[in-house]
Amino acid sequence: MPKIAVTRWIPDEAAQVLGEAGEVEISKEDRPLTAEELREFVTGSSAVVSMLHDRMDGAVADAAGPELKVVANVAVGYDNVDVAALGKRGVVVTNTPGVLTDATADLTFGLLLAVSRRLGEGERLVRARRPWSFHLGFLLGSGLQGKTLGIVGLGQIGRAVADRAVAFGMQVVCSGRSAKPGFAGEFVSFEELLRRSDFVSLHCPLTPETRHLIDADALRAMKPGAYLVNTTRGPVVDESALADALEAGEIAGAALDVFEAEPEVEPRLLAREDVVLTPHLGSATVETRTAMAVLAARNVVSVLAGAEPLTGVAR
Ligand code: DGY
Repeated sequence: MPKIAVTRWIPDEAAQVLGEAGEVEISKEDRPLTAEELREFVTGSSAVVSMLHDRMDGAVADAAGPELKVVANVAVGYDNVDVAALGKRGVVVTNTPGVLTDATADLTFGLLLAVSRRLGEGERLVRARRPWSFHLGFLLGSGLQGKTLGIVGLGQIGRAVADRAVAFGMQVVCSGRSAKPGFAGEFVSFEELLRRSDFVSLHCPLTPETRHLIDADALRAMKPGAYLVNTTRGPVVDESALADALEAGEIAGAALDVFEAEPEVEPRLLAREDVVLTPHLGSATVETRTAMAVLAARNVVSVLAGAEPLTGVAR
């Protein structure tokens, strides 16, 4: 039986699917494996089911050995995988697009509302039993209707966010690699998007080109009352520059679901009331996480059976 190494807990449904194709070994650690532990854990595997916190590179593939045929990343993003190094070794890399689109777009809107309507601040106030009473000027936020949402990256999640924005009565502009047919908004340059948007929401993958795409210059180019929302990958935003921009009042607030060095967060952001912070929850619903893990498992089964995966990553 081929060995299938799973680097962290997965739902039973997915483990059962994997069981059709081989002997499944799931890490018992409730934490990411260290690089050394990961190399040891995958030794002799034909397939590895990896998480976004695992650095899947040539050294891991070499540690797995010549039987390794597939790395199935349980995420749509695969910046943690060295696709070229694995491809050179004949290893197929798969990801999980599609199944997490709605959950991530929903969370994006949750964050947009949380930061613009000051939900975190209000919740902290109530929990701390600080005195308050209703009055017309109390904890006022910013409405969404009639505002412009700038979407950076028009993949499936960006488009699903655009659909929700239209339902909220927002105008949508977007920038990315190319315009998409059927997209309700206006396709503009990144610079114009920053200049026009009341809310900027990031949905581009993390690549060398998008690392620190939101840096000091980009933040300075945003509208003074604008908000930034990041549900893609932390390193797309320079967190220290973001803290500077908030301290200088260059933008009104930020909501981050992802961080440059997860789980660490720039300490200056932790102390701010105009920042909403959540721990990488974009796809965190029972339904979605199960669908992601099952899709990754089906990809493993396909590749080990000598067939094409259902969703693969182009080399
Ligand atoms: C992904 O799939 O890339 C997400 O970040 C997981 O929520």
